[in-house]
Order: sequence, then structure tokens, then C-alpha cells
Amino acid sequence: MTQPHPQTDPTWWRDAVIYQVYPRSFADGNGDGTGDLAGLRARLPYLHDLGVDAIWVTPWYQSPLADGGYDVADYRAIDPAFGTLGEAEQVIAEALALGIRTIIDIVPNHVSEQHAWFRAALAAGPGSPERARFWFHPGKGEHGDVMPTHWVSDFQGTTWTRTANPDGTPGEWYLHLFAPQQPDLNWSHPDVRAEFEDVLRFWFDRGVAGIRIDSAALLVKDGDLPEVPEQPGPGEHPHVDRDEIHDVYRAWRAVADSYEGTRVLVGEVWLQDKARFAQYLRPDEMHTAFNFDFMARPWDAKQLRESVDVTLAAHGPVGAPATWVLSNHDVTRPVTRYGREDSSFAFTAKRFGTPTDLALGRRRARAAALLTAALPGSLYVYQGDELGLPEVEDLPRELLQDPMHFRSGGVDPGRDGCRVPLPWSGTTAPFGFSTRPAEGGAPAPTWLPQPADWAGLTVEAQESDPTSTLRLYRDVLALRRAERALGDGPLTWVETTGDVLAFARGDVTCVVNLGTDPVPLPAHTDVLLTSDPLDAGLLPRDTAAWLRT
Ligand code: NOJ
Repeated sequence: MTQPHPQTDPTWWRDAVIYQVYPRSFADGNGDGTGDLAGLRARLPYLHDLGVDAIWVTPWYQSPLADGGYDVADYRAIDPAFGTLGEAEQVIAEALALGIRTIIDIVPNHVSEQHAWFRAALAAGPGSPERARFWFHPGKGEHGDVMPTHWVSDFQGTTWTRTANPDGTPGEWYLHLFAPQQPDLNWSHPDVRAEFEDVLRFWFDRGVAGIRIDSAALLVKDGDLPEVPEQPGPGEHPHVDRDEIHDVYRAWRAVADSYEGTRVLVGEVWLQDKARFAQYLRPDEMHTAFNFDFMARPWDAKQLRESVDVTLAAHGPVGAPATWVLSNHDVTRPVTRYGREDSSFAFTAKRFGTPTDLALGRRRARAAALLTAALPGSLYVYQGDELGLPEVEDLPRELLQDPMHFRSGGVDPGRDGCRVPLPWSGTTAPFGFSTRPAEGGAPAPTWLPQPADWAGLTVEAQESDPTSTLRLYRDVLALRRAERALGDGPLTWVETTGDVLAFARGDVTCVVNLGTDPVPLPAHTDVLLTSDPLDAGLLPRDTAAWLRT
């Protein structure tokens, strides 16, 4: 087992730039059309040149991929489609040698139906200790054919599936807040707690610098299984944000803190209530959590300013830095979203055929890159956003894989459109995504097809174009690293008129024009960077600038 030397800056996470790798779609090192760890290892120098401090790798574990890997069959094994445990250790060590830390994804709310525990639970039958690790429950009604609650799934539809007894008769129901292939664990059970603490140790021992915690607010359930009240007060929801959940993260923090170097916990916490959100970031719990409020807001000066204000106000009292997230593997790509009439994001609003203006969206996404990189805290970049990739909205329906699509009755396009394999080089698919297979011949088709017009968006094409989004991202991240006032620290709003946002970070001011007419720049000595060219000294619409003041 390789033991990478942990780097020791204890505050690295407070202003880190973290690049999200969706391994299935990042780079394919064996020519089978699916990304893998060999592909990731080969492209680590690209991430170094981009200027990121860490990678967050979405689940790479053994999985039947019923939900893109968020259905884990074995938390200590790499899926053979991605590689081996040895290769995962090489990723961690080789990235660290380039100054890049690795954050992995832990999925504690549910396991795969293929996980050994769930298989044992099904085999062992009602009342068994094996079933006590999950939420098995008899149905209601005379024949037990009414599900125990009417809780609604995060993937739409119901949250209970009925099992068959070992003798074939209809049996108990089990709870799944997501797809039926993702049975929920019972976090009141000591085995569950002990197992995940051990999984954390397994990966910390292998040198990972942090853990991204999937569905982090959902783990604990009210064991009485009440229905969801019409308007649940704080802590009153039977399966979201229950008070007892904080014990879990306190225990995890103790595990993380027992390691050399700062190993961080990053929560996927979707909560409207900012004060409740901040409770996860108390000094003995998680280090940071994703700020989805900002991501969900429309391209609107007032809305974005309000989001920055509420975010910083919520984080202040607990002393945690904010995070800035424009997208991830679950949401519509910013280039597409910001080109829409309604540029806010909501899962429930996704529909096929929503018009977008990609040129407008790209301008805004470039400006948003400068905006988010200048805000105080850490920054997440989802793979492909640095290339300005749009959402792929015309994937053949028969190739769609996302359970969100199927469980919506085919109304929601799902999340496949932001998960299309990256274009690296060349003028035709697979655009350098796949290497040639060892046995010779052409690589297999990519698991989702890439649009033919991505030839101009490849890394290769963008590297030689000084106006490309890739070159802009490299400049943004290099300058962010060089300017000490950026990253963690205070922010001061600079008053402006109209649809303009401006704030100072020490002697650097970021200004963004979200209106339709060009505006003069605030007082400055130098223009450090702009997302698009100035127009006779004025800041054009949907453009951002970093100024020396
Ligand atoms: C959040 C993940 O980001 C998403 O991809 C997944 O489907 C759900 N959690 C369930 O694990």
C-alpha cells in the first residue's frame, strides 16, 4: 500500500479550488468508451496546469451503476470498469506529487441492493438482525400491501418497495429515499455507524485528504415513521435534517482529526434554512458544505448579491468558509442554464425542449467564473465547465440512463446531459477521450455520445486560442492563487448603480455587469483580467473584470 506524504498546511481547504472528476466521463485509458482511473492518471498534468488544489472524485466503488455509482456495492473496492484499488492509490499519490489533494465521495444514506448487507438482509427474513441495519417494515392494511408511509422520493415517486419472503410470499417493505436499488441504512444501528467510521479510516489510511458526504442531511430517520407534516418546523421532518444527525458528523470529525494533515469533511447539504445549514459547519462537525443557494439563483444582480450576503452571514457565526459552486454532475450546465429566460435552477423545473441562447449563456458563464473565483472561500469547478461545455440536450432517448428521467415518467430529461464524456483533442468523436484498446482497433463508442460540434471545444483546440474558456479559467485560477487577498477573508461591497455587482477583496475589486448596457469601471489603477474584452473602456453586458485598486 502506498502512503503518500500528507501535505501539512492546516488551512488548505479554506480557499482551495476543487475540481470535480466524474470518472466515467473524464478520460478513458483502455478504449472501452468508459472513463477510468488509467485515464484520470494520464490527465493529472492537465489538472495541474489548470491550477487546481484538489480533486473530488465521484464514487469509484464497485457498483451496478443504477444511479451512476451512488449505489455502492463495496466501499472498499474499485469498480472493475474503473480499475483497481492499486490504481486508486496511484491516483492519490501521483496527484499529491503534483500538489493536488484527493477528496473521495462517501455515500452513507444508502447502499446498493447488491451490497452484502442488503443481500444478507433479504435472505435472512423478517425480524432478523441483518434486516435491522435497514428500514424493513411490514405494510399497513389487512394484507400488508399498503406501504408504511407516503414519503416522496428525491427521485419522485414512492420510497418503499415490497420484498418477497424467502418462500416467495409477499413480505416486508424496505425504505429507499432514492431508487429501489438504493436501500436506506438505519443510522440508529451501531453496526452502521461503526462500519462507516471504518470506511473513512480505510481511505484516510490511503492518503485521501477529504470526504464529500452524499445526501448528508438525510441519514437519520424518525423511527416512528410518521407522515411528513404539512409545514415541518426545524428538526420536525421525519427524514431530513434531524437533530440526532450531528452526532454522526461529530464522530466522523474525530476520525478525520486523528490523522496527520488536515483531512476534511465536505457535506452535500440541501437545506433552505440557513441557520440549520450552518449547524453542520460547527467547529467539531464538517469543514465545509456545498452552497447550492448561489447555484440555484438566476443571473440577476439583486438575487446574486442577496445570495452572497445570506451565505456569508450564515457562515460567519460558525467560522466556516463558504463554498462557491456553479454546477456539478446533477445540474444543468451553466452555459445552457444562463442562456435561458429563467436562468435559475430547480430539479422540478427541468423539461425537454426549453430554449436557450448558448452564446449568451457562455458569456455569462465566463463572467460567473470570475465572480465565483473572487468570492471568499473555496471554489468548485465541475469537469468540462472550464471548457464551457453546454448541457447535451439531444441525447438519443434510448441511451439515457438516469433514474431521475425514468422515475419522472420521461418528463424530466434527467442528468445525463451534463455527464457526457469530455472532448480532449481531434476533430471527430471520441475527441481523444478514449485511447486505443491494447488489443488494437478503434476504441468502443463512448457510453454517452458526444455532439459532433464539440470539435471546437476540445482541450487541444482551446489551448491554442487565447480567447477560449479554458485559457480564461487558467488565467483566473493562476491569478486567484497569486493574489493573497482572494480566497479566504473579508469582502466589502462597492456601491454601484443598476444591475452591477462590485466588491473589494483587499486591493482587488471584482465587478460584474449583469445589465444590458455597457457601464464604466469603478476607480482602479489596472485591469487585471476580464471575462470578455472591454468596449472602449466600458464593461459590456454579462462581463466581469478584476481590477487593481
Ligand atoms: C446526490 C448525488 O450527487 C446524486 O448524483 C445522487 O443521485 C444522490 N445524491 C443519491 O445518492
